[in-house]
Amino acid sequence: MHKIRLGIIGCGGMGTRSHVKGLLALQDRMTVAATCDIEIERAKAVAIAVGAQVAVSDFRELLEHVDAVLVALPHDLHFPIGLSCLEAGKHVLMEKPLCNTEEQCIRLIEEAERCKLTLMTAYPVPFWPIIRKMLEFVENKTYGEVFQLSVWTEQYTIRDPGHWILSAERLGGGQFFSHGCHYIDLMFRFLGRPVKGVHMGSNKGTPWMEKEGTSNVTIEFENGAMGYHFGTWGARGTRLGWSLHVHCTEGMLEYNRKDNKLFLHSNLRKERGDLVTRDRTRVLMEDDQGGKGTQYETAHFLDCIATGQRPITDGTTSLQGLRAIWRLYEADRANAIADLRSLGLDEDWKAEAASGRIIK
Ligand SMILES: NC(=O)c1ccc[n+]([C@@H]2O[C@H](COP(=O)([O-])OP(=O)(O)OC[C@H]3O[C@@H](n4cnc5c(N)ncnc54)[C@H](O)[C@@H]3O)[C@@H](O)[C@H]2O)c1
Repeated sequence: MHKIRLGIIGCGGMGTRSHVKGLLALQDRMTVAATCDIEIERAKAVAIAVGAQVAVSDFRELLEHVDAVLVALPHDLHFPIGLSCLEAGKHVLMEKPLCNTEEQCIRLIEEAERCKLTLMTAYPVPFWPIIRKMLEFVENKTYGEVFQLSVWTEQYTIRDPGHWILSAERLGGGQFFSHGCHYIDLMFRFLGRPVKGVHMGSNKGTPWMEKEGTSNVTIEFENGAMGYHFGTWGARGTRLGWSLHVHCTEGMLEYNRKDNKLFLHSNLRKERGDLVTRDRTRVLMEDDQGGKGTQYETAHFLDCIATGQRPITDGTTSLQGLRAIWRLYEADRANAIADLRSLGLDEDWKAEAASGRIIK
């Protein structure tokens, strides 16, 4: 089979800084044949960086040169441009979140199914080697039963007035929808089926955002475990940065993206709960790949195209996570707890609605 010819649509922050390194790492399996951005200079700059022969400002001119596309566009364009690409017979690796509404997600999933094309959401986190190892430990109960997953993402994300991420309509919500979707997806992978949850958000500290720039979300799962994500785009300082703690009954797994090391904290003296001085810390794994590590997700996308297998982060899985977010937003507005059962995880995924699920 010939190398997959990929097109990049959207050469902004994600399409350049984050994906270029990952794509260059996969040159033996694919070639970036064309790039596109309405700001043509951006498309040309990325074309030079990845060795693409074609750079265009209208995505329709890119289609004849490619088998698959990476869509890294403002969220309100995911649906119309993603759909056009599927209709043109192209596999789609869609930056997260899949689309801004339930109806749009369903339409894309159905179109991909109808045309037997791969549709995958570009969530990088589940593909990182350290995260895969942590998932394996949790699944095998290597350190006992998991009872709490905590995630902190402390960032400073400010944009000039008029930028699309400031608009709730273009972004599809606030920080929780745009960035929290990574961690809702991740919680489901670590903890299984959610039961109920609460979300609270604020734009104090991030007045540039139309909706929340800071969120706290807590979810309870069927197995009794809890998941928590604190995400902010307003951090003026941080120690935790991007950190993930998985508390199990025999130890705590810690991953801080800055160190890129997986730590195990365990062997607490049972008689004293003095975590600072009594626990023992071991490094279980190191990963020397920094940045967003997109090569792992892109390699999976290429595998799925080659074999026809469903991506781990396929359309329906992505929709389930977004349904949870929409229900959590709705419950937040109603001062209620969101019912997160029946997201369509393995029932008929289309039968479940995004809304109307509140526990008073
Ligand atoms: N996986 C991650 O960790 C991560 C991180 C950041 C962003 N993202 C995602 O990447 C996507 C893009 O975000 P970004 O931060 O790169 O945004 P950005 O604003 O930096 O880039 C978007 C680019 O799209 C271009 N564009 C706009 N309309 C276009 C059109 N009609 N045709 C072609 N190009 C067009 C813009 O000129 C711009 O260069 C979003 O889905 C975002 O959520 C993912």
